[in-house]
Formats: sequence, C-alpha cells, structure tokens
Amino acid sequence: MRNLSEARLTSIWRIIVCVAGGLLSLVQMASAQPLTDSDTEQVRRGEYLARAGNCMGCHTTRGGEPYAGGRKLNTPFGQFVTPNITPDKETGIGSWSGEDFWQALHYGKSKDGRNLYPAFPYTEYTKVTRPDADAIFAYLRSLPPIAQTNPPHKINPPYDNQALLYLWRKWYFNEGVYQPDKSKSDEWNRGNYLVQGLGHCNACHTPRNVWGASQDDQLTGGKIMGSYWYAPSLISPLEAGVSEWPVEDIVELLSTGINSHAVTSGSMATIVRQSLQYLSDYDIRSIAVYLQSLGEKKGDAKAPRKARKMPEQVRQYLALGQEVYEKHCQDCHGQSGEGIPKIYPPLAGNRNVTMSPPLNTIRNVLYGGYPPATAGNPRPHGMPPYQHFIRDTEIAQVVSYIRNAWGNRGSLVSPEDVDNSRGSEF
Ligand code: HEC
Ligand code: HEC
Ligand code: HEC
Repeated sequence: MRNLSEARLTSIWRIIVCVAGGLLSLVQMASAQPLTDSDTEQVRRGEYLARAGNCMGCHTTRGGEPYAGGRKLNTPFGQFVTPNITPDKETGIGSWSGEDFWQALHYGKSKDGRNLYPAFPYTEYTKVTRPDADAIFAYLRSLPPIAQTNPPHKINPPYDNQALLYLWRKWYFNEGVYQPDKSKSDEWNRGNYLVQGLGHCNACHTPRNVWGASQDDQLTGGKIMGSYWYAPSLISPLEAGVSEWPVEDIVELLSTGINSHAVTSGSMATIVRQSLQYLSDYDIRSIAVYLQSLGEKKGDAKAPRKARKMPEQVRQYLALGQEVYEKHCQDCHGQSGEGIPKIYPPLAGNRNVTMSPPLNTIRNVLYGGYPPATAGNPRPHGMPPYQHFIRDTEIAQVVSYIRNAWGNRGSLVSPEDVDNSRGSEF
C-alpha cells in the first residue's frame, strides 16, 4: 500500500513539473505512469526470485499463512523456528528498511544487530546482488501483513551462545556478491549465480563438519543435517554428476522432477515442486549448462569395482532379496529393473540405487513416495511405503539385491542399516 501511494505522489509531482515546463500535455501524462509500472515489475521479479530461493518453503508451516513463518527445522544444534517475514509491523518485517533486509540476506544480521543462525542459508544468499535483494524485499512488502508470533528457537547449549556464533561466522562465513567469470558464457554465469546463490544447492549438496559448516562449496555431496537424506555429489559420475548427460535431460529432470532415466525424491522432490519448476526456460537451462560443466568425466572417477566371484553366503542373501523383489516390486520396476520411462524409474543402472550411501534407497522402500507434481508431470505415479508390509530383514535383502542385480554393484545392506535410516524428513 505504502508503495502505491508513494508512487502516486511521485507521479503527481512529475505531472506538475511537466506541466510547468510545458513539454507535454496533461492528457499524455495521465496515461503514462512509468513509476507504478516499474514498481509492479520489481514486485513481479521479486516474486520470481523468492521462488528461486524457496523462501516460502521454509517460512511457511504446513497449512499456515504463506511467509508467516513458524516452520520448525530440526538440526543437531537444536530446533530453529522460521520467523514471520510478512510486512506486519509488530510480528513481521513491516518496520524494516531495504537496508535492514540487505543486512539480513547479505550479512546474516537481523534488524536489531543480532547475528542470525546459518539455518537461514545466508551463507549462500550472500551471493545475491543488491537489485535482486531489493526486488525480493519489494515483493515481501507487497504481501498482506499477517500478525503471527512464532515460538522461540530451542537451541542446545553451547550453540545458543552468540559469542560462539560470532566466532563461527568469522571462521566459516564468506560474505560477497557473485562475481561473474568473464571467460565463461552468460548462460554459465547465470547458472552458477543461481546454483551458488538463491538456489542454495550447497545448503544440502555439500559435506558438513561437526560445526555444521560447509566443508566446501563444490557440491560434492553430503548427508543433510538433521534430516535423513543424503544429497548426492553433483560432481561425481558415480552419484548425481551430470557431466555426461545432454542438457535437455538435466532440464527435464529439474523442471518436471522426472526424466526417462531418473526421478527426484524426498527433499529434492520438494525443491522441484516448490521452486525449480517455476524457473524460466532460460534460467533452468543455465543451471543445467552450469551443472553439466562441473566435475569429473567418467574416466577420472574411481572405476566401479569389477565383478568378483560371489561368496556362497552372499549369493544366498541376494537370492532372498530377489524373492522379495519378484513378489513386491517387479510389477512396477520390471523383471530386469528396467522400469517404465517417466512412470516407474528404472533400477538397473540407476546411480541413486548403487551410490555408496544406501540411505536414500532404504528410505524410498520404507516410506515410498511420489515424484513432485509439476506442470510437466501433473499426476505422478507413486510408490507404496513398505515399512508395515515387510520386515527390516526383507527390506535389507531386497535393497541389497537391487544394488547388485542387472549389472549394478553396491555394498550389501543389513537390517541395522534399515533401522538406522528411519526418522522423519526434517
Ligand atoms: C532452509 C530454510 C530457510 C530458507 C530457504 C530461507 N530462510 Fe529465512 N530464515 C530461516 C531461519 C531458520 C531464520 C532464523 C534465523 C535466526 O533467527 O537466527 C531465517 C531468518 C530470516 C530473516 C531474518 C528475520 C528476522 O526477524 O531477523 C529474513 C529477512 C529471512 N529469513 C528472509 C528469507 C528470504 C528472503 C529467503 C529466500 C531468499 C529465505 N529467508 C529463505 C530459514 C530459511
Ligand atoms: C533441501 C535439500 C536440497 C536442496 C536445497 C537441493 N537438493 Fe538436490 N537433492 C537433494 C537430495 C536429498 C537428493 C537425493 C534424492 C534424489 O535423488 O532425488 C538430491 C538429488 C539431486 C539431483 C539428482 C537427482 C537424480 O535423481 O538423479 C540433482 C541433479 C540435484 N539434486 C540438483 C540440485 C540443484 C541444482 C539444486 C539447487 C537448485 C539442489 N539440488 C538443491 C536435496 C537437495
Ligand atoms: C506401484 C508401483 C511400485 C512398486 C510396487 C514399487 N515401486 Fe519403487 N518406485 C515407484 C515410483 C513411482 C517411484 C518414484 C517415487 C519417488 O520419486 O519418490 C519409485 C521409486 C523407487 C526407488 C527410487 C529410485 C530413484 O531413482 O530414486 C527405489 C530404489 C525403488 N522404487 C525400489 C522399489 C522396491 C525395492 C520395491 C519393492 C519392495 C518397489 N520399489 C516397489 C513405483 C513402485
């Protein structure tokens, strides 16, 4: 509202100036409202960028008012509760200036000067440019203000100590807007900017140390803190590196959640559903071009182990897994694990199945799930949860089987591994 009336005042002022100058007729001026248009344009751009950053995903509880916060994020350091970022004056960011917002997004500082916890991925958002940050702020200001006070964080000692957070930031936080690499194409730079900045892909796809700090910003994969998902390496061809994929395949996976040989699940499905599917063709292609340029080609990576003669005990274990597979899985995933393109993912030659941590595959079987519903794949087929149908022993057997059938090669999985993979998503 404030923006509108400000804009209107400014156009009135312009009209007066112009009439005084006698340059244009009043009629012409009344029909031209350049500032209002550019305000709307900025808000629209901000809405788009907020999607790219998935701000709403974290700042909204299930069934709650968008951006009013209250979502609980469990981490090894305690429980964080996302704040209300609607323009309510008392409980949201209604009294913030553009500079206050920039301080939060770029430096991780709240309006009152408090250092913010990196559960808010400002460690990535710091790469966002000032005009983009201003557009997001303009969008947030255009939302209806929601009066909602959220519960405080419950942070475990000693992490609740601001002095420790101060040291953490000194040590691990590198502030700075993305600097384009002039030797690369505009597309590549746009992709890099989105992946390393607003897309905050590193928030999940990177290993973390005991202090919760990224070990690198190289997308080398890691278990997501406080969540039971492994975000695979986007570099390694043994995990989710896509240097060997055509750009079109990467685009299809990121924008629809599925392609003929892969499917996103768990928290990646959420990212596709809430954020990536809304990106423009140019932006999603740029991300694909950047991802494709990363990392090792197959030749550089550790070669998968050669097929060895299998000990009899292993053979028997896998045969039990095959029985479970034929009974419960084959109808959808096929006799040879071939799946049905874009309906049921193939399991043969599927890196999500063979990659070294079996965590995601075990969770796929325990909890089932759906690929994201997207414009490109509006009614995805789902997979039933098996945790109440079959015992942990059988889940261990069938996962071991699919990791080693049809030319796949992966370590065996025990019932303890299955039990250790239980836990809610966030
Ligand atoms: C992974 C979850 C997550 C995402 C994604 C996220 N935030 Fe947050 N945000 C948080 C958490 C948690 C806090 C509270 C941090 C604290 O109190 O130390 C926070 C704090 C903030 C604050 C400071 C509010 C205050 O009162 O100090 C602002 C502003 C903010 N976020 C804006 C955004 C915007 C804009 C985006 C998208 C570009 C975004 N957030 C995306 C989790 C998230
Ligand atoms: C909230 C955590 C999270 C964020 C943020 C995230 N990812 Fe993921 N990603 C995952 C998880 C977990 C998986 C493994 C599950 C799967 O394969 O879908 C994954 C898998 C992937 C895969 C492999 C999918 C497949 O099936 O082969 C690609 C490619 C990928 N992510 C790209 C990205 C990009 C690009 C971004 C940033 C725009 C991103 N991710 C942000 C958690 C995340
Ligand atoms: C009704 C059809 C159906 C049945 C039966 C079924 N699945 Fe699935 N499966 C799917 C679908 C659909 C997906 C994609 C789900 C998603 O994205 O979350 C999937 C995904 C998977 C994945 C993840 C693949 C990837 O690329 O991330 C694995 C592993 C898997 N299934 C194994 C099994 C096993 C093992 C069984 C038997 C115990 C089984 N499935 C039974 C339909 C089925």
